Amino acid sequence: MEYERLNSVEVNIPKIGLGTYQIELSPRDEAISALRRGIELGMTLIDTAEMYGWGRSEEIVGEAIKPFDREELTIVTKVWGTNLAYESVKRSAKASIARLGTYIDVYLIHWPNPSYPLGETLKAMEELVSEGIIRYIGVSNFSLGQLKEARNLLRNNDIVTNQVEYSLRVRDPEADILPYCQKEKITLMAYSPLDRGRIVKRPPQKLKVIAARLGKSIAQVAINWLISKPMVVAIPKASKVEHVEENAGAAGWRIPQDLMTELEDLEEERARWPRS
Ligand SMILES: NC(=O)c1ccc[n+]([C@@H]2O[C@H](COP(=O)([O-])OP(=O)(O)OC[C@H]3O[C@@H](n4cnc5c(N)ncnc54)[C@H](OP(=O)(O)O)[C@@H]3O)[C@@H](O)[C@H]2O)c1
Repeated sequence: MEYERLNSVEVNIPKIGLGTYQIELSPRDEAISALRRGIELGMTLIDTAEMYGWGRSEEIVGEAIKPFDREELTIVTKVWGTNLAYESVKRSAKASIARLGTYIDVYLIHWPNPSYPLGETLKAMEELVSEGIIRYIGVSNFSLGQLKEARNLLRNNDIVTNQVEYSLRVRDPEADILPYCQKEKITLMAYSPLDRGRIVKRPPQKLKVIAARLGKSIAQVAINWLISKPMVVAIPKASKVEHVEENAGAAGWRIPQDLMTELEDLEEERARWPRS
């Protein structure tokens, strides 16, 4: 496995983690086996949220991690956008740790919500750090302006990650969030790195050709392209053990520059990628 620093804190996280959105829709044993296999393969970064299956995803994560050394794991969960009032944040975090059966490493604001003053939400999160309920604070789906505002409002902590959609198809973070995160050493956690599975199901022709030339699968090339970037980690979700094993194989090699140029030049084809 390859590793990345989590912001400036002394924590190494794997470049490839485990997403868990809708994992509760799979048979429980299969979901738990997939997560355990991922952890065995070094994907020790696990992403969940109170909103995923309204707690059921967190419960599955709690069950899956039981046999492992807790200190080897980095558990990320999120407070939903309607629970951002001071008291609600505290309540949500405590409910999450009850379902996970352990503390939270990185607690994210799932979506910004202007109905709640950001300073109030962050005050509650800073207190959760002091209380030992969470270790680090992060955000998700924040624009560059919102990310900067959050950093300014924090008193004793910094934002360690912004989790945003980023894949070969969705390249928006490259405009401003990615360069800022790389400069400021904030981890960019790329969600939906396989475009919710669509990259594999309906790959652009050029990607198919490049994967064949590299002798890698389409998912592996799509994930490797992301993790080759400094400060970027990817969190593909896979509820099947064979998918987890394949995704773990996206680390430890690099796409040669000539093929990288071709891959980055998917722009024209990308515009025609079907959405469903
Ligand atoms: N912060 C946010 O707002 C936000 C939003 C969306 C997602 N996320 C996080 O990011 C994670 C990943 O995003 P995502 O779940 O939207 O989409 P994704 O990881 O891009 O795609 C997941 C889909 O790809 C399939 N898949 C995984 N590996 C594969 C492989 N090697 N070959 C073929 N198919 C493969 C999975 O199938 P199986 O399950 O059948 O294996 C699943 O259907 C989420 O689970 C969640 O933790 C966060």
